[in-house]
Amino acid sequence: MKTRREFIKTAALGAAALTAGNATRLIASTGPVRKPLVVSTWSFGMPANVAAWKKLVEGERALDAIETGVRVCEGDPEVRTVGYGGYPDRDGYVTLDSCIMDETGNAGSVAFLQHIKHPVSVARKVMEETPHVMLVGEGALRFALDQGFEKENLLTPKAKASWKQWLKDGGNYEPIRPDQADHDTISMLAIDQTGDLSGCCTTSGLSYKMHGRVGDSPIIGAALFVDNEIGGACATGVGEAVIKTVGSFLVVELMRQGLSPQEACKAAVERIVNRYPEYRKVQVGFLAINKRGEAGAFAIGKGFQYAVHDETGNVLVDAEYLLG
Ligand code: GLY
Repeated sequence: MKTRREFIKTAALGAAALTAGNATRLIASTGPVRKPLVVSTWSFGMPANVAAWKKLVEGERALDAIETGVRVCEGDPEVRTVGYGGYPDRDGYVTLDSCIMDETGNAGSVAFLQHIKHPVSVARKVMEETPHVMLVGEGALRFALDQGFEKENLLTPKAKASWKQWLKDGGNYEPIRPDQADHDTISMLAIDQTGDLSGCCTTSGLSYKMHGRVGDSPIIGAALFVDNEIGGACATGVGEAVIKTVGSFLVVELMRQGLSPQEACKAAVERIVNRYPEYRKVQVGFLAINKRGEAGAFAIGKGFQYAVHDETGNVLVDAEYLLG
């Protein structure tokens, strides 16, 4: 990580220093801004990016693009950690968490929501149709039904069979680092053609969690934070570690201080493992973009991938990581 003195030296060579009140923001000012742009977590981000990209090139808001994008993942029964087809909690209930944030700083979220296939769209309705930021459980369901969402059974036969097998195997809960086949939240960030940012997260949470457990994905500042002046950050992995460090807010604030998205994600991962050594064995990944369209990511462990779609195409990138 650059020291503040080193950063200012760099800034003097190719960046502008902007003063906002007593704080000094340093934003690199060289090179063209990369927009539109959409990034998302894991390999299931690839088809989600394609859907979001279509909206972006049509000139739609980043907010519409990200909602459209993650709905692809929420509706896919083969994705076992998001929406329909997601693994249930230890009592057999599929409970969903999601949040969304737009370019004005508006936010909405739902937690512990059951029976609704697209929690991200309910989170958006909370943001746009209520004076609140977050609705949970029965209240969130009632609101979704009032808004016209359909009540559905989200526990697919495959997910149910996996849960039954887990019970048969002893029903032990251990949030170990997931492998490629069993990853986690889809989190997505985008910049639209006007340069505005939005982001969202959606997940069925950790498999076989306690009934009532809520992770980081519906918590603004933890799994997601967007500041349209600076950039956006989002998270995937064991939510407890992300909540305790307010991870995505931390990443955005580090970018505000002049770190690149990559450097900021790395610093947030280091914060987790240094402050909470017990999380060294779990996975957390951060993904961030800044206002200029630079992207970066970093994870505790090997295996985190993220998808980046810009005008040159859609690519899956292996994130750098701290521990083997
Ligand atoms: N990151 C998802 C969760 O912890 O539930």
